[in-house]
Amino acid sequence: MKYLVTGGAGFIGSHLAEECLQNGNEVVVLDNFATGRRDNLKHLEKYPHLKLVQDSIMNYSRMVELVGSCDAVFHMAAAVGVEYILENPLLSIQINFRGTDLLLELANKFQKCVLIASSSEVYGRNNKVPLREDDNRTYGSTAVVRWSYAAGKALDEFLGLAYWQTTHLPVVIIRFFNIIGPRQTGRYGMVVPRLVCQALRGEDLTVYGNGQQSRTFTCVYDAVKAVRRLIGMPEAYGQVFNIGGSKEITILDLAKRIIELTDSKSTIKIVPYEQAYQSGFEDMERRVPDVSKVEKLIGCVNPTSLDDTIRSVIEFFKDRPDIR
Ligand SMILES: NC(=O)c1ccc[n+]([C@@H]2O[C@H](COP(=O)([O-])OP(=O)(O)OC[C@H]3O[C@@H](n4cnc5c(N)ncnc54)[C@H](O)[C@@H]3O)[C@@H](O)[C@H]2O)c1
Repeated sequence: MKYLVTGGAGFIGSHLAEECLQNGNEVVVLDNFATGRRDNLKHLEKYPHLKLVQDSIMNYSRMVELVGSCDAVFHMAAAVGVEYILENPLLSIQINFRGTDLLLELANKFQKCVLIASSSEVYGRNNKVPLREDDNRTYGSTAVVRWSYAAGKALDEFLGLAYWQTTHLPVVIIRFFNIIGPRQTGRYGMVVPRLVCQALRGEDLTVYGNGQQSRTFTCVYDAVKAVRRLIGMPEAYGQVFNIGGSKEITILDLAKRIIELTDSKSTIKIVPYEQAYQSGFEDMERRVPDVSKVEKLIGCVNPTSLDDTIRSVIEFFKDRPDIR
C-alpha cells in the first residue's frame, strides 16, 4: 500500500509513518513543519519507500498530486495544542476545517480511503464518565477560543460522515484521548513532555488549575497500531472510534509519578488557569473514553502501562536536552 500521511513529521504522524514503513508499505509524508520536526523522520531515511514533501495541506495542486497518487490517507495534519490554538486562533480554524474539507473533496474525487484524526475535545464540557462515541457534545461560548478547536474537529467529523453517507467514501474517524510518547514536545501545552522536561531540569513542575483534573493516557505505539489496523477494515468505514486509556490519573498525581520516575529533586507548583492561559480559560474535570467499540473490532488498544510510557518519554528527552 502507498499511504499519504499528512502531518507525518509530527508526533503521532511520524510514529504512524514508521509503523507503515516497518510493515512494508510505501509512505509519503506531507508536512509544513508548523509544529512537526524533520528530525522526527531522520531515523527513517534508511527506508527507500519514504518520501517527504514539505508543503501545506492548503496547497490545492500539491494535494491533487499527492491524494491522486496514493492508496489511502492518514490525515494527521492540524493546528494542535491548547497554547498553539490560543496564539493562532484564525490559522487554526483555517487549517483544521478548510484543510480537512479540501482533503475530503479530493479523496472523494479519487475515491481514496481516509482516516481522520479527531479529538476527545469534540465532547467539550461533557463530564460523563466514560464518554461514548454517541454521547452529547457540550461547548462553551464562541468568545472562548479553545472551543474553536473542538468545533472544527466536530465539523471535520460531520463532513467525513456526510461523504460516507452520500458517496460511500471510505472514511474512518478517530477521537484520540491524550496520546503520549517519545517525540511529543511540551512547546504547545502538552502536559507530559512539559512536566518531564521540568523534572529533568530540576525545575518546579507547574500544575495548572488545582491539579485535581484527571485524564487517561495512551502510548503512541499502541495508538498507531490501532489506527493502521482500522484503515484496512471495511467494518470501520463511516464509523467514529474513541482511542484512549482506561486508567484515570489526576494531573497532580501524574506530576508526582514523573518526579519519582525521573528521580528528580523538583517540587510541584500549583499555577491558576488565569495565570497559565488567557482569562476565561475553561478546562474539563475528567475525560475518560469508553473504548468498547474499538476493542470489539480489534481487541485491546492500550496494553502499554503509563509508567513504561513515561519512561520512554524520559529516555527521549534525556538524549535531547535541546528539545522542549
Ligand atoms: N496527541 C494527542 O494526544 C492528540 C489528541 C487528540 C487529537 N490529536 C490529533 O492527532 C493529530 C496529530 O497530532 P499530534 O499530537 O501528532 O500533533 P503534532 O503537532 O505533532 O502533529 C501535527 C502535524 O501537522 C503538521 N501541520 C500543521 N499544519 C499543517 C499544514 N497546513 N500542512 C501540513 N502539515 C501541517 C504539523 O507540522 C505537525 O507535524 C492532529 O490532528 C491532532 O488534532 C492528537
